[in-house]
Amino acid sequence: MRTPIIAGNWKMNLLAEEGKELVKEIWKNIPGLSGVDVVVCPPFVDIPSVASAINEKGMSIELGAQNMHWEESGAYTGEVSPLMLKDLGVKYVIIGHSERRQFFGETDQGVNRKVKSALAHELIPIMCVGESLEEREAGQTEEVITGQVKRGMFELSAEKASNVVIAYEPIWAIGTGKSATAEDAEKVISGIRKTVLELFDKGCSEKVRIQYGGSVTPENIVDFMAMKDIDGSLVGGASLKADSFSEILRRV
Ligand code: PGA
Repeated sequence: MRTPIIAGNWKMNLLAEEGKELVKEIWKNIPGLSGVDVVVCPPFVDIPSVASAINEKGMSIELGAQNMHWEESGAYTGEVSPLMLKDLGVKYVIIGHSERRQFFGETDQGVNRKVKSALAHELIPIMCVGESLEEREAGQTEEVITGQVKRGMFELSAEKASNVVIAYEPIWAIGTGKSATAEDAEKVISGIRKTVLELFDKGCSEKVRIQYGGSVTPENIVDFMAMKDIDGSLVGGASLKADSFSEILRRV
């Protein structure tokens, strides 16, 4: 049995104090929640204050980062290393979000380096893949996603690979209010599981958790969760409000 995982990707939103208030509100709304891994991914500079709120109240909410460099330290102006994240109590890290690929030139090769580095530092990578609208309309979805998964997970051992969380996020569904249908998402996600089986082994393909992301709300989360291969969600917009994020958690 795979434990569902819901991760809130705050993107470049909320000041440190606002982030702290948000986790407190979320926690207030979900007393006794179990059976789902809950992760919030604040901007780097908010992490210490959110961490202090989590620790103060002993919340079972884990911290994630939205990106990291693959090296431990060095002359990489503006970057943050896996050691720095570990030092703040971060457990998860989003790698290769489509916004990083689109606006910051991230490639599958860079994603692979970061995934390997995260695993080497015992951080759990949430590796994002997704097709553009043009690719979908050209019937290339399967080819694009398979390629991203293969290159992103290149040279991992089956043991390491089974710890990766994969987030399938069609680019056209992100922040648009136009989510994929649960059936369409399941089709792609079961294909991702098949690719993982081909790359590694059955144990790994059964263990790896695969999320759907893109305009997930309290209204549509249940449809996604009803699918056999969908193990949770990477939530953007709806993770910025305590009410909608905690309602998603409750419904999961
Ligand atoms: P959204 O974003 O839920 O606002 O569509 C999802 C994401 O980018 O991870």
